[in-house]
Amino acid sequence: MQRTLIAQALAGRGVNETITVGGWVRTVRVSKGGFAFVTISDGSAFDLLQIVAGGDLPNYDSEIAHLTAGCSLLATGTLVPSQGKGQSYELQAAEIRVLGRADAETYPIQQKRHSFEFLRAQAHLRPRTNTFGAVARVRNAMSMAIHEFFQERGFLYIHTPIITASDCEGAGQMFRVTTLDPAHPPTDGDGGVDFGEDFFGRRTNLTVSGQLEAETYACALGNVYTFGPTFRAENSNTARHLAEFWMVEPEMAFCDLQGNADVAESFVKHIFRAVLERCPADMAFFNERIDTTVRSTLEHIIDSPFERLTYSEAIDILTASGRQFEYPVRWGADLQSGHERYLTEEHVGRPVIVTDYPATIKPFYMRLSDDGRTVAAMDVLVPKIGEIIGGSQREERLDVLASRMAVQQLDEADYWWYADLRRYGTVPHAGFGLGLERTVQFVTGMANIRDVIPYPRTPRSADF
Ligand code: 4AD
Ligand code: MG
Repeated sequence: MQRTLIAQALAGRGVNETITVGGWVRTVRVSKGGFAFVTISDGSAFDLLQIVAGGDLPNYDSEIAHLTAGCSLLATGTLVPSQGKGQSYELQAAEIRVLGRADAETYPIQQKRHSFEFLRAQAHLRPRTNTFGAVARVRNAMSMAIHEFFQERGFLYIHTPIITASDCEGAGQMFRVTTLDPAHPPTDGDGGVDFGEDFFGRRTNLTVSGQLEAETYACALGNVYTFGPTFRAENSNTARHLAEFWMVEPEMAFCDLQGNADVAESFVKHIFRAVLERCPADMAFFNERIDTTVRSTLEHIIDSPFERLTYSEAIDILTASGRQFEYPVRWGADLQSGHERYLTEEHVGRPVIVTDYPATIKPFYMRLSDDGRTVAAMDVLVPKIGEIIGGSQREERLDVLASRMAVQQLDEADYWWYADLRRYGTVPHAGFGLGLERTVQFVTGMANIRDVIPYPRTPRSADF
């Protein structure tokens, strides 16, 4: 059996020929005239395929007339132009094999609107809904576009480790990886746990970022990127934070902050353009049902330059706004999401790249500027979401790096290999990290980050 995808059938592939499709039933309408209209989805397209089943089919009375939402089937028949409204082609069934029934009383996904909250508890079945199917297809198209952007520009895709001994962001928000028995850990004589006895013979964690390892490859191979899951044990219960999320991190040798910002801007535009081009039906759905501004927002962004501001300019703008923000505006304090949203939504009305943050609020690896108090950092902010990209030019001077590590109380010995890049053939280099889920949120208009990853991990929740 050669299965035709519904996306292909709806595009007319195999018209007036016999084809076989498989899928899950969405709706069933049994007509008085002794035939039934069954619509099915197979995930390949947003739209459903209508199957017309005549009463003369041998299992019409026993099975077809009793189909309900969620049943699975294989249907073979002739693909014909549809007489009815709402679809281009339909299948005149010659055979319908019902593979699995779905009890109508208990099947959780009924043909009605379910709340996203309810569907989170049914995360294993929610991809069968319009919304979650569309999110999955958009996320897929974005992942493809990410690889394409870097591959077209000669970047090497590298795989950085998930288990690591270093804390890239220095924020201590790491999940420990251990095989020690928590009830009876080996002790070190001082009442502490002896991690020397642990699986790796030392303390290890799930990575918060692949950046440090990506830097080592950039400082050998030029332009590289890593794209994988990252983990943060930050107790942030917001619609924009996950404990496990996907990040794409390019790293470029012989690149400064401006070059970094230029790549980030064309990268974001490339992703948006690709989704608009390749997922028109899914985007039409998001634009109609989730957020009526998503499509025009993306189109507008593709066509206009991002605003660029220094952190100091941003502070001046926020101060001059006369707004009462939840967190006060003060040079030296990090921008909070209220500040970010004001800048991007109200002040400029499109994405903003904020650069040159105070050194005290940024990680050790960012390049110290000549003023001695800011670093060559950049954040890309977008309306509604705030930060989708964080990046910087890296500190390539060994002595400055060492003093930054000392200030942040990091043990240089732990980062000997990182320092070696500055010891042997150091070069200016820069990179950034784009949060995949926040970008999916922005593109689709989905309000909660838990609804743009198949199985969200958040504080007190790791079901499935
Ligand atoms: O700004 P962050 O922490 O930067 C880094 O990790 C750098 N090492 C990246 C680099 O320069 N190679 O994180 C980068 C992006 C953020 O802008 C945000 O989009 C996303 O990762 N992000 C999160 N997304 C979901 N949940 C969280 N808890 C996130 N933390 C960061
Ligand atoms: Mg950041």
